[in-house]
Amino acid sequence: MCLSGCDVGTPLGAADVEQPEGWADELAMAEALDLDPDPHVVEIELEARITPLEIVSGKPTPVWTYNGTLPGPLIRAKVGDRIVVRFRNSLPEPTSIHWHGMRLPNDMDGVPGLTQPPIEPGSEFVYDFVARDAGTFWYHPHIHSAAQVGWGLYGALVVEDPADPEVFGDDLVLVLSDMALDEDGQFLPEDTGGEFGDLFGREGNILLVNGKVRPRLKVRQGKQQRWRVINAARARYYTLRLPEHTFVKLGGDNGLAERSVETSRIVLVPGERADLVFTPSDPPGTSRWLQWIPTERGFGSVFNRPRENMLEIVTVDEDPVIPASIPTELREIERIDVADAKALTLDLTIHNETIGEKREVVMGINGIPYWNSKPLEARIGETQVWTIVNDTAFAHPFHLHGYFFQVLDDTRVLEWKDTVDVPAESSLKIAVRFDERPGMWMYHCHILDHADSGMMGHLWVAAEGETHPPHVELIH
Ligand code: C2O
Ligand code: CU
Ligand code: CU
Repeated sequence: MCLSGCDVGTPLGAADVEQPEGWADELAMAEALDLDPDPHVVEIELEARITPLEIVSGKPTPVWTYNGTLPGPLIRAKVGDRIVVRFRNSLPEPTSIHWHGMRLPNDMDGVPGLTQPPIEPGSEFVYDFVARDAGTFWYHPHIHSAAQVGWGLYGALVVEDPADPEVFGDDLVLVLSDMALDEDGQFLPEDTGGEFGDLFGREGNILLVNGKVRPRLKVRQGKQQRWRVINAARARYYTLRLPEHTFVKLGGDNGLAERSVETSRIVLVPGERADLVFTPSDPPGTSRWLQWIPTERGFGSVFNRPRENMLEIVTVDEDPVIPASIPTELREIERIDVADAKALTLDLTIHNETIGEKREVVMGINGIPYWNSKPLEARIGETQVWTIVNDTAFAHPFHLHGYFFQVLDDTRVLEWKDTVDVPAESSLKIAVRFDERPGMWMYHCHILDHADSGMMGHLWVAAEGETHPPHVELIH
């Protein structure tokens, strides 16, 4: 019995308790082993190889992996660290690694034909660059990309800045993707769906979170988690919804946004990332599903398609805690001054061509597929505004290599981006400053079936005094 002043339990604050034991065990990803003792150098070995993994229970799938895991190992670094990746290709065909979103020197960008030769089976290549920006990045091949990514070649790269404001929650990286498998766990043919497959982009029938089918995450009511979510699927858009919950979005592709915003849905187009805080609010001892819901990206993408369960959120049977408040002002971002910007228009196009006997869907930019294109030009120090026009019936996620851009749209929270959705029959403007790092850079649609069908282009950022573009080979 309690006679005086007994403490009936002031609920604990979120900072006072840990996540539930084994909270993210089912989502654990392999972490890259750092071979260099220097705290400012992250040196790792990566090998691309086919590894049988059980995706659908009991049936091994010959997954294309980095170091035998799906996704490939998670790489963590701090701003200013040097990252050295000793890469070996043990696949039956050429590959490369592109570091999606990283502002690195051109010869480290991993684009065969533009920045390096394809890495042939049995050969090696060393990627060596400095992580200069905080953010959630990822890596994947840049040749035969739709197939290689679809078969499992992708991994996460998280760069932290110790100077960023503290945002509550433990860090969990969620790599979203899908795979197209038959009942025996074998990959469906690469050309499934023929022309329509190219047009729509091939989505897998198995949804994966960190390489797992419908894994479980344990949470405690009120105890926040910070999620870094990456869409690594070759074509699928993700709209994420957790009934009865909202998320606080902190940023996306390239670190924190100017301010945080509360939202009930997170939309991620292929290649895009979101950085968010999730505050579990369900009572102890319950569970519910984080759902994939269809996103409007053109004819038939929403009509009659069911929602799908992706991740089970299990609220453990422990006392709730009081959530910490999340800061609104996160970062100062200077708006790119576009007063003297050079203006360009890029029209994303789809047409039919008869090649030999076959009618083929050819995608391109301004009507020209990648393999016939001439480079856009920019000079070091120049600012450009690109109007990206999409008159097609499909949405396209537009991605630029090597530089961050800002979307010129006052209704959006200001943030740095490298991938942005251009919905069907719409257009948007982006501003980009080519401040340094000359070379040949890519831009393309990140529905990789579209990219492989020609919806890609290249851009020559000329160094001071450079008058001729470097010789490149546009691989078809
Ligand atoms: Cu993830 Cu060329 O892109
Ligand atoms: Cu990229
Ligand atoms: Cu596209």
